[in-house]
Amino acid sequence: MCGIIGYNGKRNVKKILIEGLKALEYRGYDSAGIAISDGKNKEIIKSVGRVKALEDKVNNESKMDGLFGIAHTRWATNGGVTLSNAHPHTNGKVTLVHNGIIENSDSLKENLKKKGVKFYGDTDSEVVAALINYYYKGDALKAICDAVKDLEGSYALVIMFDGDTKLYAIRKDSPLIIGYGDNEFFAASDISALGNKVKSIVYLDTNVVAVLSQKDIKYYKDLKEVKEKIVDIKNYNFDTSKGEYKHYMLKEIMEEAQLVRCFLSKYLYSDFSEFDLTPYKYIDIVACGSAMHAGLAGKYIIEKYASIKVSVNMASEYRYEDKIYLDKEHTLIILISQSGETADTIAALREAKESGIKTLGIVNREGSTIARESDMVIMTDAGIETAVATTKAYIMQVLVLSLMGIKTSIKIGKLEKNVLDEYKKLPSLIENVYSKKEEIKDLANKVYKIDNCFFIGRLIDYAISMEASLKLKEVSYIHSECYASGELKHGTISLIENGTVVFAIITDKNIKDKTLSNLKEVESRGARGILITTDEFDIPYDLKLTLPYAEYFIEPMVVVPALQLLSYYVADLRGCDIDKPKNLAKSVTVE
Ligand code: F6R
Repeated sequence: MCGIIGYNGKRNVKKILIEGLKALEYRGYDSAGIAISDGKNKEIIKSVGRVKALEDKVNNESKMDGLFGIAHTRWATNGGVTLSNAHPHTNGKVTLVHNGIIENSDSLKENLKKKGVKFYGDTDSEVVAALINYYYKGDALKAICDAVKDLEGSYALVIMFDGDTKLYAIRKDSPLIIGYGDNEFFAASDISALGNKVKSIVYLDTNVVAVLSQKDIKYYKDLKEVKEKIVDIKNYNFDTSKGEYKHYMLKEIMEEAQLVRCFLSKYLYSDFSEFDLTPYKYIDIVACGSAMHAGLAGKYIIEKYASIKVSVNMASEYRYEDKIYLDKEHTLIILISQSGETADTIAALREAKESGIKTLGIVNREGSTIARESDMVIMTDAGIETAVATTKAYIMQVLVLSLMGIKTSIKIGKLEKNVLDEYKKLPSLIENVYSKKEEIKDLANKVYKIDNCFFIGRLIDYAISMEASLKLKEVSYIHSECYASGELKHGTISLIENGTVVFAIITDKNIKDKTLSNLKEVESRGARGILITTDEFDIPYDLKLTLPYAEYFIEPMVVVPALQLLSYYVADLRGCDIDKPKNLAKSVTVE
C-alpha cells in the first residue's frame, strides 16, 4: 500500500530517493517523506500530499547532502493523513520507513508507554521504530531480530541507526527487493523504483536482514550470515514514461493490442502445460476487484468450452469461508493478480497450499509473492502498469483464462484445433476499437455530467458489465452499479428515475432478447438506455455503440477496451485525476 526506497551509494541521495518515490507513487499518495544521513548528522523532511510537494519542500529546506537515505510514499491505513503520521518515523537512534500493517501495535505501544517511551503520532510504524530502539543496545542486527519477534502482521522495513552508515532491510508478507547497481545498493518495494540503475536484484526472503553498506550487501537470518539468490534483470523493460499520451491509463489501453499479439506469438500454439485444465473437475478462482471480474469472464468461457465447474470468489471473503471441497485431488485454485502482492489473495493462496490443493497464479509481476509461492504460474506479460486503474493487465488475464478454456476443450475433443486461429484476429479487433475513439468520445460527451448510472448484462455480458461499471466509477467518481439484467427488477429498479442512464451490454446471442426486454423495462420507467453491442446484431436503438463481432471466447477482450476508453474520456471530461484516483492505491498489500 505504501512505497519504500532506500539507497546507499555515491550518487546524489536526495535525487535518487525522490525519483524512486515518483515511480512508486502509484502505491500510495497521501503523504511522503525522506531521511538522509552522512553517518553523523541526519535530516528528515516530510510533507502531506503528493511526492511533488515533498520534492519542492526538499529543494527549499534541505541543508545537507547525505551519503545514504530512506524515503516513503504513504497510503494511510493506520492513523490519519498528517505530517506526524507520514514516514520516516523516528524513535531514539532509530529511523525507519514501513509498509504493511502491525496487528498488535496497540498492545506493543501500551507496553512501551509503561516503560516510559513517548509517541508523537498514531501509526503502527512509529511503534516499530520505538520497539527496535527499545531493543537497541549498540547491535543493530540483534535489535531488529529481537523486535520482529514481537511483531504480528506484515512489514517491509528499511531502517537507519544514528551513528551507523549502513541501511538495514527486512520483510514479512510485504514486498521488498534489494537492488545491485554500480557500486551502489538499493532497497525498494518494487523494481519500478530502481529504473535502469540496477543490474541485478534479490527478492528478499522472509525475515532475512539485508545490510547495505557503501561497498557491499550482506544477508543475515537469525544473526547468521546467509546467501540470497541474485537475479539478473538486464532484459527488464523499465520504460515507464507516458510517451505521447496525456495519461498512463490511455497509454496502457493503447498497448493492449500489441501485448495480445506478443502473448499469442508465445503461447497460442505452444503446449505449455499450465494451460491444460483436464486434470481438474473443480476450479476455484480467487481474486479481488478487476482481477476477480477477469475471473468471472473466464468462468463463462471455461464452463462453456471445457465443461469444468468454476466458482469465482472475492479473496477477502474466500479466505475466511468454511471451505467445502468435493474432490480435493481434482480441484485447482487459480489466484489472479496483477501485482501478485494483494494481501487477501496471498492469504487465500497460502491457505489452499496448506490444505494440499494445487494452486496456479496468473500474475503480472515477476518475483511477486503470488508468482513465487504458487505451485504453477502463468505470467500475463503486460509490462509495468502505472495507472492505478487496471486496463491492460485485465485484458491479459482474460486472455490467459480464455486460452485455458479453449486449449482444454481441444484436448477433450470438444473443439477442433483450428479454433485457435480465431485468436489471431484479436489484436486487429482491438485496433478496430481504437479506431472508434471519436465515437466513444462522443458518447462520453453525452454522459459525463450524470451523477449515477447502471450497467446490466447477463452471463458473460454481466462479467463485462461488472468491469465496465467498476472502471467508470473508480476513475470518474460517477456512482455506478452493475446488475445481472434479470436481477434489477427484484428491488433496485425502484431507483430508476426519468433520465437515469442504464448501459446494457449485449454480445451473447443466446440471451440477447432477454437483456433487451430488461432494457425496455427500465426505459418504460424513464431510464435513458445506452446499448453496447456488436455488429453481429442489427438492433435499432437511439443511443448505441456497436463494436466488432468476435467469437464468444474473444469478445470480452474486444468490448472491454471500448468501455475502458469510455471511462477514460468521461473521467477526462470531468477533470479527474485519472491515473491516481482518490483513496485508491495500485497494490493492496493490506487486508
Ligand atoms: C481496479 C483495480 C483493482 C485491482 C484489485 C486487485 O481497476 O485495479 O480492482 O484489480 O485491487 O489487484 P491485483 O490484481 O494486483 O491483485
